[in-house]
Amino acid sequence: MSTHAYFTTPIYYVNDRPHIGHAYTTVLTDALARWARLLDPTREVFFLTGTDEHGQKVEQAARKRGVTPQAHCDELHQAFKSLWPELHIANSDFIRTTEPRHVDVVQQALQQLYDRGEIYAKPFAGWYSVSEERFFTEKELVDGKDPISGNAVEWLEEQNWFFRMGQYRGRLVAHLEAHPDFIQPDFRRNEVLGFLRNDLEDLCISRPKARLAWGIPIPFAPDYVTYVWFDALLNYLTGIGYPDTPGWERWWAESTHVLGKDILTTHSVYWTTMLMALGVPLPKRIIAHGWWLSPSAGKEAEKMSKSKGNVVSPLGMKDKYGVEVFRYFLLRDMSVGQDASFSEEALVQRNNTELANDLGNLLSRIVALVEKSFGGVVPEYVERPSQAADQRLRAAALELVEGGYRTHQLIEACLGLVRELNKLVTDTAPFKLVRDDPAAAGHIVRTVLDGLAAVGKWLSPVMPERMAELQRRIGAVDGHVIGGTAVIRGESLFPRFELEAPEAAPEPPKPAKAKKAEAQKGPKAVISYEDFAKLDLRVAQVEAAERVEGSDKLLRVTLDLGTEKRQVVAGIAKAYGPEELTGKLVVMVANLAPRTLFGLESQGMILAAHDSSRLFVIGPDGFAAAGAEVS
Ligand code: MSP
Repeated sequence: MSTHAYFTTPIYYVNDRPHIGHAYTTVLTDALARWARLLDPTREVFFLTGTDEHGQKVEQAARKRGVTPQAHCDELHQAFKSLWPELHIANSDFIRTTEPRHVDVVQQALQQLYDRGEIYAKPFAGWYSVSEERFFTEKELVDGKDPISGNAVEWLEEQNWFFRMGQYRGRLVAHLEAHPDFIQPDFRRNEVLGFLRNDLEDLCISRPKARLAWGIPIPFAPDYVTYVWFDALLNYLTGIGYPDTPGWERWWAESTHVLGKDILTTHSVYWTTMLMALGVPLPKRIIAHGWWLSPSAGKEAEKMSKSKGNVVSPLGMKDKYGVEVFRYFLLRDMSVGQDASFSEEALVQRNNTELANDLGNLLSRIVALVEKSFGGVVPEYVERPSQAADQRLRAAALELVEGGYRTHQLIEACLGLVRELNKLVTDTAPFKLVRDDPAAAGHIVRTVLDGLAAVGKWLSPVMPERMAELQRRIGAVDGHVIGGTAVIRGESLFPRFELEAPEAAPEPPKPAKAKKAEAQKGPKAVISYEDFAKLDLRVAQVEAAERVEGSDKLLRVTLDLGTEKRQVVAGIAKAYGPEELTGKLVVMVANLAPRTLFGLESQGMILAAHDSSRLFVIGPDGFAAAGAEVS
């Protein structure tokens, strides 16, 4: 394993208010850096984030506020800098592109490329819109005017400076082909290769000061500042002390850039070719994640962004649900590379089912048992201590690094272990067993504690504080419990949340549930026998049942109707466990129109009685054959 690892986030535009898109990139990078440390505690890990402070938008915003761009940035970068500790981000450094250390690196790089003939001047002409501060082609104009604002445009001819990017196309393609892991996930690498099938143009890297003054001055061209991306990308080298601080190459050789898919081209094409021209090796890896989308009522989910005004504030989420549950949700619900919809409902469900029910309950059950039957201390192993759980999760963490950074898969591996441990406790009932066979019960308890300790360790990159607390409660150090250590009972580690009722909105069509509740109130209208006879009611036998992932109410039940099998998604998980139900005879509505719940088709309905305290599944009073009619 390498001795160093270097992780970077993009540097964020200083004008933006941080939203969960920014929070996600940073939380993901933070967790990857933490896993890199866990996999090898002797490895040195460096994690860089920061702010991108030059460019037109910053200049304009500062002008509007009547302050200098520098004063504007000094104030605004704080929104990011102060957010990160609140989200339990442990970055090693925070870089601002207005810092002298960075300006120096950019100017040196420009000069070096110029001296080597990699940068040249060329006249450029086009229709310039003052209000949009950009050029348009003849074709783009609408009635000879700026297509965005409708304002007049003027023909402008100016000289600009270009980086000879085009000549590197072949080398870049060769690199991508020789290093299939360079861009993750795979399909993104293919997109970049697709893009590179066409000619690659040279990159304009200058802006005349007359149009934009807020940038890094180009040393060999006093009337120009450099293009903001040329400036920003170099932060990744400034952050590790390039070119003068000895040892920067060791970090660089193990560098991973984490970023969103919208800025993959700038990183995989501009940045890589800039590095080739500078004679610096390419970074080890680029990970491009998808977008968090905002599900907006009735419309297609859309990218969350400031300009659309649909952003979710990370601080708001943190205040409402706690930072670590928020981090858990971000890393659990997005499959790196794909887009995902952000919803508070999904966050609450994940918390209630996976964290509160599965993990939190296992911890409190086992601690209570240790207190009651084992003198409050971790029992010694009767047989030799087991490292199985730790090894299993370590393997999943290695897989994470080698297999496309799918954080949700590593989390799923931890949850899978938790579910197995819950089943072990349910199947072996150690709280009863301890009376007859304390050694056997102790062995089970120890197995569960070892497993919990391993989960506490390997989930700590996702939830550093809560997992440290979990380990503290069971006397674990670095993922291992020690026999004889006292356990600590505390408040529940993951409290459940109730979803707030949405605010009163103009009467939308009533959801099915509300209709049902309303229908149940008071006597129902009299119906004819013919109406009743429309129902195809049958006896069915439960062949299998399992919990529906992401829901604490639903079970997916496979029913045997004698002549056929049906899948029914039933809202009975709070009253019945899957094992309890298997083999039971129930009554089902066999001719109900199918509907889809949590992505599963429900092909009927199991009848149940509801009183004020719980729910009882209805079945025949004896062994009626599956498929028997009910009337
Ligand atoms: N300043 C440039 C990056 C320069 S890096 C040398 C920039 N900044 S940004 O603030 O606009 O975006 C930074 C990161 O936030 C990107 O990785 C981007 O993909 C991510 N996100 C912004 N909105 C997002 C979502 N809605 N969802 C997920 N991430 C998205 O680009």
